[in-house]
Amino acid sequence: MLELRSIKINYGVIQVIKDINITINKGQIVTIIGSNGAGKSTLIKGISGMVPLAGGEIYFQDKKITHLHPHEIVKNGIICAPEGRRIFPEMTVEENLDIGAYARIKDKGTAEKIKKHVFELFPVLKNRSKQLGGTLSGGEQQMLSIGRAVMADPKLLLLDEPSLGLAPIIVQEVFDIIKQLNREGVTILLVEQNAFQSLQIASRAYVLEIGRIKLEGTTQEMMENEDVKSSYLGVKINK
Ligand SMILES: Nc1ncnc2c1ncn2[C@@H]1O[C@H](COP(=O)(O)OP(=O)(O)OP(=O)(O)O)[C@@H](O)[C@H]1O
Ligand SMILES: [Mg+2]
Repeated sequence: MLELRSIKINYGVIQVIKDINITINKGQIVTIIGSNGAGKSTLIKGISGMVPLAGGEIYFQDKKITHLHPHEIVKNGIICAPEGRRIFPEMTVEENLDIGAYARIKDKGTAEKIKKHVFELFPVLKNRSKQLGGTLSGGEQQMLSIGRAVMADPKLLLLDEPSLGLAPIIVQEVFDIIKQLNREGVTILLVEQNAFQSLQIASRAYVLEIGRIKLEGTTQEMMENEDVKSSYLGVKINK
């Protein structure tokens, strides 16, 4: 469904993404794990068209989308829930959701139907629909960020560290919803430092280290890999 071929991204003279190949098949959850500064967010921005590529090609559903503008990439069905939640603090929860639909869903009835589903997925957003986004708790803002992305009816959902700063119980809730969205047919690229959780729900994984893919394989293979165990899973694996 998505194919990154020899992607390169530079900030000034610094190469942050160095020749990366990634393939995501329809219906999969694929995770990219990597530590701070590895280039995870940069890669997501490259796919979304928010930073220019210095080289390589991106194909989505066999169509080249390499140099499309961000809004055209959204129209194609690639929707991002960015790192740090980036919701609109001065707008209500419901207004934030409506904006999510705006880019792609022109029919009001369809948008209302999707919103109803988002409220089913995230009951807390329904309860707080008239509250300002900026007054939500961190976990609620993360849910709003994902809910807003769902409002655009994504074919491919890009999630940049959805677990960041959340208590374990909320992380579990968010990951359960990600699994649910995937069951409903949304293909997912999940970028995470939280390797333990993301390897549980993904089918394939890539390990990103300073701009290069160091390892790739099934999540089962990754969980059994000694380097992954020691660098990304820490003591959690040594039950
Ligand atoms: N706009 C920018 N200008 C210059 N350098 C940047 C810019 N954005 C990111 N970088 C650098 O690129 C590298 C990769 O950053 P990126 O945000 O992609 O990492 P990350 O893997 O998402 O890290 P984290 O887990 O901390 O979010 C870092 O060294 C960062 O300082
Ligand atoms: Mg990041």
